[in-house]
This record gives sequence, structure tokens and C-alpha cells, in this order.
Amino acid sequence: MQDSDENEYFKPIYVIAAACKNMGIGNDSGLPWNLPNEFRYFMDRVTSVTAPGKKNLIVCGKNSFNIPEKYLPLENCLVAMLSTTLSAAPKYVQYLCRDFPTAIKIGSTPSLGDTVEKIWIIGGPKVFKEGLNHPWCRHFFLTDIMSNFKCDTFFPDFDRQTFHLLDKFPGVPSGIQEEKGIKYHFQVFTRDSKFSKPNYTI
Ligand SMILES: NC(=O)c1ccc[n+]([C@@H]2O[C@H](COP(=O)([O-])OP(=O)(O)OC[C@H]3O[C@@H](n4cnc5c(N)ncnc54)[C@H](OP(=O)(O)O)[C@@H]3O)[C@@H](O)[C@H]2O)c1
Repeated sequence: MQDSDENEYFKPIYVIAAACKNMGIGNDSGLPWNLPNEFRYFMDRVTSVTAPGKKNLIVCGKNSFNIPEKYLPLENCLVAMLSTTLSAAPKYVQYLCRDFPTAIKIGSTPSLGDTVEKIWIIGGPKVFKEGLNHPWCRHFFLTDIMSNFKCDTFFPDFDRQTFHLLDKFPGVPSGIQEEKGIKYHFQVFTRDSKFSKPNYTI
């Protein structure tokens, strides 16, 4: 679908994060927890495409591309990293962008826009905020880690009138998960009631 700008294509933007009880998401430059199945869920979501040759664009801040090297390069993905200070893109990062709109533009204008299927916003806090504020972001995926962890980085506040929690979402396991004694559940928020129909898939 082409958007109002003649050369810009609508691309669904999804925010994906995991936060513990106090909305903490990070500590000491890493995740506060080690939950391999939760990480697998993240990987499955961000790397899934519906047709061969399609790619997802991963958008992240400079400190949030913490994916173990054995998974890199990320299958079916291109990575756009945001930084005002880096002078070159790190290994496995295809695009270095000075701001969020530039990253979105890369994924939504020719020629990459023809290949990109979805845009995934994977953090950190400022990038999450920009993703949630973007009109193309209709869903976000937030794993609720139901424990307290020491954290120095937090998920930004979001408007729970704008984004409301869905009861269920296709492909997302429902109910409480448990790993290493830590309980969590996969949540999906939507901003648009038409997407809450059970047969809506991404
Ligand atoms: N639990 C989760 O779901 C999750 C997800 C992601 C990250 N985390 C955690 O969060 C922590 C990292 O967070 P962080 O605060 O360091 O965030 P970050 O966004 O990874 O890194 C911040 C840096 O990225 C650049 N940046 C971010 N937004 C930008 C923008 N809009 N435009 C230009 N540059 C931008 C800036 O670099 P310059 O200073 O070079 O300009 C900024 O100093 C880690 O502990 C990580 O594990 C957790």
C-alpha cells in the first residue's frame, strides 16, 4: 500500500520488549534476566516473514543490538542502528541512522521498501517511545516478567487509553509461562479495535 507521500509505502511498525514489575528492561548494559524461551519468542517474531525474499527491518539504539553472535546475521532481517556519534555501522548492522525518521524512511521508500515487510523496534527506551508514537505502530508486544529485578533502564510510559491489552493474539502463547522459576506472560497491545478480531494475523 502506498502512503500519501508518493514514494513512501506503509509498513507496519511493531514495538517488542520485555519488562519486569517496575517496567525495568535493562541493567548494566544487558538484560536483567536470562530466559532462553522468552528470547526465542522474540527471535521468532522479529525474523518471521510471510514470503521468501522478504525482509524485516530491525530498528534499535546503539546499545540494544545485544543478540548473541551465533544468531547473526539475523535471518530475514536488515538492521538499522540509531546513533548520533558512531562513525561506522557495527558488524551485522546494515544501516547507521542519525535519527528515527531516517530509519523508517529507509524501510518504507524504494528500493528497500519493496523488500521490507515489517519494521520491528527493539529498543532502547527512546526508540520504543518513538515507535509507539508513530502512526504506523498499531500493535506492540510486551512480555510481562512477573518478578522484580534490579534495573537501570526502563520502558517508557505509554497511554493505556490509546493502547489496550488484547485477550489473545494469533501465534502468541496465552497463559502464564514459567522458566527458571520466573513467571511471565506474552502481552499484545493494540491501538485500533479493528485489529482485535481473532482472525487478524501478522
Ligand atoms: N528488555 C528489553 O526488551 C530491552 C530491549 C532493548 C534494550 N534493553 C536494555 O536497555 C539497555 C540499553 O538501553 P539504552 O538506554 O542504552 O538505549 P539504546 O537506545 O540502546 O542506546 C542509546 C543510544 O543510542 C542512540 N540513540 C537512541 N535513540 C536514538 C535516536 N532516536 N536517534 C539517534 N540516536 C539514538 C544514542 O547514541 P549516541 O549517543 O551515539 O547518539 C543513545 O545514546 C540495555 O540494558 C539493554 O539490554 C532491554
